Formats: sequence, C-alpha cells, structure tokens
Amino acid sequence: MKKQAVVLSMGNLNLDIYVKTDAIPRPDESVDAYETYMGGGGSAANFSVAVARLGLGSRFLGSVGNDQFGDMLIKELESEGVDTRFIKRISHEKTGTVIVIVGLDGSKRMIRYSGGANLGLTPNDITDEVMNGVSHVHVALGRTEIIEMAKRIAKSMGLTVSVDGGTPLARKGLDVIRDVMNNVDIWFMNSFEARELGHSENVVRAAENIASRVRVRELIVTLGPPRGALLLRDGEVKYSDAFKVPPVDTTGAGDTFAAAYVVASVLDLDPIDKLIFANATASLKVTRKGARSSPRLNEVVDFLESLGYAKLANEILSRLGYS
Ligand code: RIB
Repeated sequence: MKKQAVVLSMGNLNLDIYVKTDAIPRPDESVDAYETYMGGGGSAANFSVAVARLGLGSRFLGSVGNDQFGDMLIKELESEGVDTRFIKRISHEKTGTVIVIVGLDGSKRMIRYSGGANLGLTPNDITDEVMNGVSHVHVALGRTEIIEMAKRIAKSMGLTVSVDGGTPLARKGLDVIRDVMNNVDIWFMNSFEARELGHSENVVRAAENIASRVRVRELIVTLGPPRGALLLRDGEVKYSDAFKVPPVDTTGAGDTFAAAYVVASVLDLDPIDKLIFANATASLKVTRKGARSSPRLNEVVDFLESLGYAKLANEILSRLGYS
C-alpha cells in the first residue's frame, strides 16, 4: 500500500463522561439518566482518531496529567494508530475531563475542565521535529499563541494549516485574531461563531465579512443538520446539505467533519467533493455514541455509494492508493 501523508493535530485530550437524559436538574433536584458511558475526547484528539480511521497517517500533540486517565487516553490513541510520541505528561495537573449531557435528540451540552494538564501545551512544544514528515497541521484550540507558533513553523516548512478555534477564539473578536489567522489555509467555525465574528445574523454575510478582513484560503461554516456546511473560497459560496440520519449523539461531529475535510484536502479533491465527503463522515458519526465513534474509510465509502456517490467513493480510494 502507498505510504500515506501524515496530518498533525494539536490541542486538547480529555476524558469524556456522558449522561444521556431528557432533563437538566435544578438545585437540589435529581433526574434519571437513560444511560451513561465514557471514552476519550478533546477536539484535537478526536480529529486525530478520525484522520487515522480515514486512512491517513495521524500524529497528535497535546498534554495530559501523569495520572491513570492520562495513561488510558494515550493507550487508546495508540490503539487507533495515532503517533503519540510527542504527548507531554504534566505531573502536577489533572488530565482534562468533560461531562457531556446528551439529549434524546442527540444534542450535547458540555461542562468542561479542559484547563489543567491541557494548558501544559505551550508554544515551545511546537518544534520542527514535531512537524517533521507531516503534510498538514491542524490546530483545534482557541489559544492564539499556539495558533501563531504552529502557523509560523508550518509555513516555514511549506505545510498547510487549518484551525478550529471554537467559541474561545471567536469570543476574542476579529480585531484581536486577524493577524494570527491571516494565511491560515482552512478555518472551521460553526454558525454561532461565524455570526459573532462576522457581526451579522445572516451566516453568508457574516462569513463574507470575516473573509473581507482576514486572508484565509477556505472558510468553512458548519450549519448543523439538516443544512450541512458552507464553504467560502475565492469570494464564492458553496453548500452541501447534511445527510439525513437518526441522531444518537452529536459530540465530536464537528471534529469528525474537520478531519474528513482535511483528509479530502490532502487528497486534493474538488471543493464540493470535500464538503460531501466531510458531511457523509460526520453524518455517520452522529448515529453513534461518543466523540470517538467516527467511521472508518470503508464505512464512509459504502455510505457514499448507497447515496449515489460511487464516483466520489472510487476517487477517494484511488487517491489513497487502494485501486
Ligand atoms: O468536540 C467535542 C469535544 O469537546 C469533546 O470530546 C470534549 O472533550 C470537548 O473538548
């Protein structure tokens, strides 16, 4: 099989503890959960697992405590084929933990302790060595000092860069982050973040406002089901709807979408095909429990074929060297 390109992802690695319920308790009240489950989480780590399952090489940079959760999370990533050699262990801080409340419609609410050991990742940890042999760098954090350093080193090595900074990045406002985001290749955000950053309730207008002030090659706004995502590139807007699936748990769907979009970008697919592939991959994730339930390549290929996208499925297989 062909030697695959490697994607480096940096950011949080958490333990996610899920509670499925249709009620949020008030003070002194208790409510019943339908089920509980737990597993690895953290946007950047979820992204790494999704990339590995889609068939590219995957490396993760982040920081966990020197505790049993840290051991467990690293082993889990290794079992997925993710390169964990650069993960930092911090002895005086606890591994990040997140409580995820999942509604019966698959919606999620998170209570995060993603400070602690996650904050042990500093710009000094981002080195030429970490990026050696990598084709693309993804930063799933809103910390501008990390984005800045990752971009500087990646660009000096000729690598492409994507950022999914979430609400923490959007809350900083464009005036603060525009220099940091200039020359990023792909910027992922959800519609809430786009409206906040672009100062418009109209998502397209918001995206255009952002693009008029920051030089990014591709701006992706995930719109949530059933509307999928929009791509703004070279002043042109393209859409791809989400696929209709029974939602079970949407945790990690955005991370899976970003991973699939980056994989499709590394494979140099057409913009609309990249959106379709990312939507299909994220749609399958939504039908399963937990943030790490992203599908494997063969499942996405079968799903695309069942939806009438056999040509795209074959193109992806061929670019990965399977045919
Ligand atoms: O994007 C989903 C992730 O956000 C979860 O896995 C949780 O750990 C939080 O970081």
